[in-house]
Amino acid sequence: MKVLVTGGCGFIGSHMVRQLLADGWQVTNLDNLTYASNPANLASAMDDPGYRFVHGDICDAPLVKELVAGQDLVLNFAAETHVDRSLLGPAAFVRANVEGVVCLLEAIRDDGHAELIQMSTDEVFGSVPDPEESAEDRPFRPSSPYSASKAAAELQVAAYRTTYGLPVTVLRGCNVYGPNQHLEKFIPLFAARSMRREPLPLYGDGLQQREWIHVSDLVHAISMVIRAGSETQRGAIHIGSGERRTNIEIAQRICDLNERPHELITHVKDRAGHDRRYALDSSRLRSLGWAPEVPFEHGLARTVVWYVANSSRDDPAFASYLREQYEVRLAGAANAAK
Ligand code: TYD
Repeated sequence: MKVLVTGGCGFIGSHMVRQLLADGWQVTNLDNLTYASNPANLASAMDDPGYRFVHGDICDAPLVKELVAGQDLVLNFAAETHVDRSLLGPAAFVRANVEGVVCLLEAIRDDGHAELIQMSTDEVFGSVPDPEESAEDRPFRPSSPYSASKAAAELQVAAYRTTYGLPVTVLRGCNVYGPNQHLEKFIPLFAARSMRREPLPLYGDGLQQREWIHVSDLVHAISMVIRAGSETQRGAIHIGSGERRTNIEIAQRICDLNERPHELITHVKDRAGHDRRYALDSSRLRSLGWAPEVPFEHGLARTVVWYVANSSRDDPAFASYLREQYEVRLAGAANAAK
């Protein structure tokens, strides 16, 4: 069986490519190698005869048509994913996350054979009040340009299902953590900065809550949905772990794991439009026999060890992003403390 994975050099995509190869799929990986991707994530796959890498963009319609032809499955992980960057510049998010998806859908419609699995997010629902959980049919209320772009993509996917009868499935994940994630994200950033004894910029009061799944559990869930086949696919399926933690709890735990004082945690100006809480109802997936295997405390400890060993990338573009995102915030916190 043949699968086109888009965004396979990114965080989730690279873990998924390795799993698909292990499961015997012929994998074509289309990736445009943005700042968030890292071909080294797939160094071990390079010599696999079932693996092919294509450097290109999901908005390149002729290329996408050529690559979709003959595939059994298209798995779309190609996306701009960082909420903070979407606040700095939404246009790139609309292009990759909405136009890119329409380009894939058009190619699939034209080919008339491949199924699509579109990776989406619990963020399409916006903030979910405690103790509610989002079931698959909860209405969308996205808050950020990022989550609005993912919701827009989902609406296009649903429209192609309804209008053209395309075999499409949407998977909505909660927050994912583990090795190979870009250092801009919360857990890698705090793991790397605490190691270097740098202040940890915690947005607002830090009592925002997220649901966290280890990337290996996410990948196993996606594999199970693929194996279960079209009977269980079509429509949306939630992939959540039930492991919900406040940001401040996680920040403190990361300090403890790195043997650093909690005083490194610095409350800074909150993210605009910051969602307070996400929580998924994943009973549909669990009824198919899936359950997460990595308890958050174990997964976090392993992940922090991994970033301590693997976070020394010297990247001037990232350094400039960090300055734009945090310099004023951290200076503001220091002045407020005086
Ligand atoms: P993030 O990893 O950006 O994921 P998302 O915004 O998609 O949930 O952030 C996770 C949480 O951590 C989120 O509530 C924002 C918070 N956060 C901080 O407090 N400080 C930071 O520097 C970052 C990057 C995130």
